[in-house]
Amino acid sequence: MRILFVCLGNICRSPLAEAAFRREAERLGLDVEIDSAGTGDWHVGRPPDPRSIAVAARNGVDIGGLRARQVSPADFDRFDHIVALDRENLANLRRMQAPGSRAHLSLLLDHVPGREGEAVADPYYGEDAHFDLAWSDAVAGAQGLARSLKARA
Ligand code: 4NP
Repeated sequence: MRILFVCLGNICRSPLAEAAFRREAERLGLDVEIDSAGTGDWHVGRPPDPRSIAVAARNGVDIGGLRARQVSPADFDRFDHIVALDRENLANLRRMQAPGSRAHLSLLLDHVPGREGEAVADPYYGEDAHFDLAWSDAVAGAQGLARSLKARA
């Protein structure tokens, strides 16, 4: 099974979701391939934002080796699940998806009971506290998604 996490720039939120989900999938023994991407192309080839690298490091995960890429049409056939970090990115993904392609699209916090429809807020113009919040939302979503995939496996 292949899972792709998508935000706008692929430098703040989706690298955190990718890292949090990788940790959760390992914990539950899920056989998954995990990646992240952005709907935008401004940061392609760049490492995650230093503030995302820092919050991941504070939580014991090294994301410094990740590099941003943009979502491509092929992703909709390669991935089983494409998980958006907010509603705008989900709407853009829905517009990009060709009819009949493989991927099931969802919002990350749809996988957290009681938080369906909520966005992981964009921390790019925020403070460190916004990155801490993005991390804890990423973990909550990753745990919910991993649990439901495990239950279905
Ligand atoms: P991300 O955050 O979508 O969580 O990676 C952003 C990164 C860059 C920009 C906006 C959001 N930007 O406008 O360049």
